[in-house]
Amino acid sequence: MSDRTVISVAGTPGYDVVVGRGVRHQLREALPPAARKVLIVHQPTLGAIVNDLREELLADGSLEVLLAEIPDAESAKRVEVAAFLWQILGQADFTRTDAIVGFGGGAATDLAGFAAATWLRGVEVVQMPSTVLGMVDAAVGGKTGINTAEGKNLVGAFWSPRAVLCDLDLLDPLPRNELVAGYAEVVKAGFIRFPEILEIIEADPERAVDPSTPEFRRTVELAIRMKADVVGEDFREAGLRETLNYGHTLGHAIEHAERYQWRHGAAVSIGMMFAAELSRLAGRLGDDAVERHRAILTSLGLPTSYRAGAWSQLLATMQRDKKARAGQLRFIVLDEIGKPTVLQAPDQSLLFAAYQEIAEEQAPGGVIRVGAR
Ligand code: GLY
Repeated sequence: MSDRTVISVAGTPGYDVVVGRGVRHQLREALPPAARKVLIVHQPTLGAIVNDLREELLADGSLEVLLAEIPDAESAKRVEVAAFLWQILGQADFTRTDAIVGFGGGAATDLAGFAAATWLRGVEVVQMPSTVLGMVDAAVGGKTGINTAEGKNLVGAFWSPRAVLCDLDLLDPLPRNELVAGYAEVVKAGFIRFPEILEIIEADPERAVDPSTPEFRRTVELAIRMKADVVGEDFREAGLRETLNYGHTLGHAIEHAERYQWRHGAAVSIGMMFAAELSRLAGRLGDDAVERHRAILTSLGLPTSYRAGAWSQLLATMQRDKKARAGQLRFIVLDEIGKPTVLQAPDQSLLFAAYQEIAEEQAPGGVIRVGAR
């Protein structure tokens, strides 16, 4: 385990994000020493690895290990699935000193975190993300929750994990399109904080998204460091954390328009292109930086345009989201690469003009659809 990288997240208490190959085997050390029971909440595709992990934990002799297989992706984030976990915890007499492990993509870690936040008013959770998106975003920062019929993430809690183990071995079998879509959040970290990420992609986009390369590892670690720094400073999203929403305001509206059949990163990619154009039209960002967005996203196979006729629908969704948060329409824009800021209540004509810059006759295909390999 010599090649592991430890990234600390500040807080009371803080915690470590451990990145490296094989770090899942550190799970016992990451659990609370006093725990006598552990519930591993995992997605179906991870069943074989989970059984091995269970054997490892049982070898310790001091733990009872329970497994809960949950549905894939967003269908895990339902109150019925949370109730299924509460039932297991209740029947197993889980106490405050026991612990939950979230093992899977962002939906699995969000749900496991939510179960941990709510059981006995809070038990410890160790997150083991198995996707790029989970490692660089969902599993770090303590946002947990489930969806309701009225919208995504409407029920939840800020609940920090005890540790996050990012085992890069888990990424090797993933379909390329899933890696690329998850990598959009790494690119975001390049645009809003660490231009080094952009330089690495520009040098060789194929190597950047290949989990076997040092370039991939470096960029993923930088993205995690960014997230760790931001949530360490602003856990409850009073200010700085909002900058992580770069590309997400329009991105969420696109996900909604596509009935959540698009990968999150694909929608965010278009959202970032829109945010860059908006930054330029607002007189903040230069042409070169905007074209850099287009070139980098395109070089990775990520989409940068969306249907010309969709604007009024997208705007209505963004307005509704805004109302749900009792605020004004706000976009994260860039003053320059690495310098995000908030653009509050921009003029609708400015928004429309920015959209015209990314509008196409047809929606793009390829990488974006859930299930496309
Ligand atoms: N995914 C954005 C955040 O954690 O704040």
